[in-house]
Amino acid sequence: MQAWQEVVEAKHLKPGEMAHGRAGGEDVLVLNLSGELRAYINRCGHMNAPLDLGTFKSGVIKCPQHNAVFDARTGEVRAQPILGLPGMDKLPPEFLEAMAKMAPVFARTECRPLTPLAVESTGGAVRVFV
Ligand code: FES
Repeated sequence: MQAWQEVVEAKHLKPGEMAHGRAGGEDVLVLNLSGELRAYINRCGHMNAPLDLGTFKSGVIKCPQHNAVFDARTGEVRAQPILGLPGMDKLPPEFLEAMAKMAPVFARTECRPLTPLAVESTGGAVRVFV
């Protein structure tokens, strides 16, 4: 049964910050967009990487794994994932061959919008409905 559940203390979520917590058995990402709260299931819409390990800047969330970019206000995909790493040219050829074999799988893996959760701040707590 779904219910409002505390995910983080409000004092730990200042404007421009994101926080990660668990509520109702879900891994949750909460964001403070200049005083407006947003919450999502903490999983990238591409291959489920934990988004709290990525970045939240200028109104977008960037995935730590393949750099997909999501609108922090809506969860919509703003930029598709990229298969590549900084310094890739220095990797051993065997590794690059293995990555090349994965490229068709990567290219056909859809990146979906984030899963939004209802969120509120009350009594010093940020709560989500899960
Ligand atoms: S898992 Fe997030 S972009 Fe691939």
